[in-house]
Amino acid sequence: MSEFGEIEGPVVRPRRLRTTAAMRELVAATTLRPAQLVLPLFVREGLTEPKPISSMPGVVQHTRDTLRKAVVEAAEAGIRGVMLFGIPEAKDAAGSGALDPDGILNLAIADVAAEVGDAVVVMADTCLDEFTDHGHCGVLTSEGRVDNDATLAAYAAMAVAQAEAGVHLVGPSGMMDGQVGVIRAALDGAGFSDTGILAYGAKYASAFYGPFREAVDSSLQGDRRTYQQDARNGQEGVREAVLDVQQGADIVMVKPALAYLDVLRQVRDAPELRGVPVAAYNISGEYAMVEAAAAQGWIDREPAILETLTAIRRAGADVILTYWAVEAAGLLR
Ligand code: PBG
Repeated sequence: MSEFGEIEGPVVRPRRLRTTAAMRELVAATTLRPAQLVLPLFVREGLTEPKPISSMPGVVQHTRDTLRKAVVEAAEAGIRGVMLFGIPEAKDAAGSGALDPDGILNLAIADVAAEVGDAVVVMADTCLDEFTDHGHCGVLTSEGRVDNDATLAAYAAMAVAQAEAGVHLVGPSGMMDGQVGVIRAALDGAGFSDTGILAYGAKYASAFYGPFREAVDSSLQGDRRTYQQDARNGQEGVREAVLDVQQGADIVMVKPALAYLDVLRQVRDAPELRGVPVAAYNISGEYAMVEAAAAQGWIDREPAILETLTAIRRAGADVILTYWAVEAAGLLR
């Protein structure tokens, strides 16, 4: 008897399903498997040894040689995809290093494809920003605006160069209107009808890309708000993803992930996108926040990593790009 009198216990007790680890495992609704993870990797021209990225502890700019080893390690861990970013020694206004078969990214694609063949899905960033001296994702007009249609031609050529190097999926991330359709036509025209497109469907202008700018030695001044989406618009993310699928995208991605889990859910649930795999990019700033807090002893790092990735899956991602891919695969084993 409590001071409130006899209390009748509830008949319905959700806690029954949490009583043992086996019970929790039995009823777990969200899966997280290594094969659902993609490891983003940076390769920098001219390096003789890997160079740490200070704002992304544990992540490095690779040499061509250590990149190959990192991909083999990922494959052995059960990871089935890598997303490659190249950092050239010289940049110019047109980002011409991106189109050059001997440019660092195209060389790296060929290296990786030769190393792992079809055991891992080789993906590459199909965007000019790592290669332009102004750091924008496209070429500029004389007034300094990003020129949508002039940029499309560059993306088409870049995608074909990546396909020639052996990429399985090109990854247009520049948010130019019509980019997926132009790339699809260019790939098909060059005989690469089996090369797929992982389209950055919904990509938002985000403060959380900060560490990535260090990772690729970005020369960007200002921001990307005239081409990347405004954080206030959720439905627009669905519209962008649908447009990409209409233009031939094979997989659509939402990016960033954590501040946009609602967009991810809307994209996953959109009737027009039924059956289309949806990816989410757990980006540099999301990685850095967990690493920084864990380094301070403020959060428990490994459970925080798994909870982060589980949340992204639960919100609707079929595939997750994450800098923790290999480590998470180990934790899941
Ligand atoms: C553009 C690109 C960016 C990222 C991936 N592709 C940067 C940007 O749009 O400014 C960010 C990835 C990350 O932050 O982890 N090439």
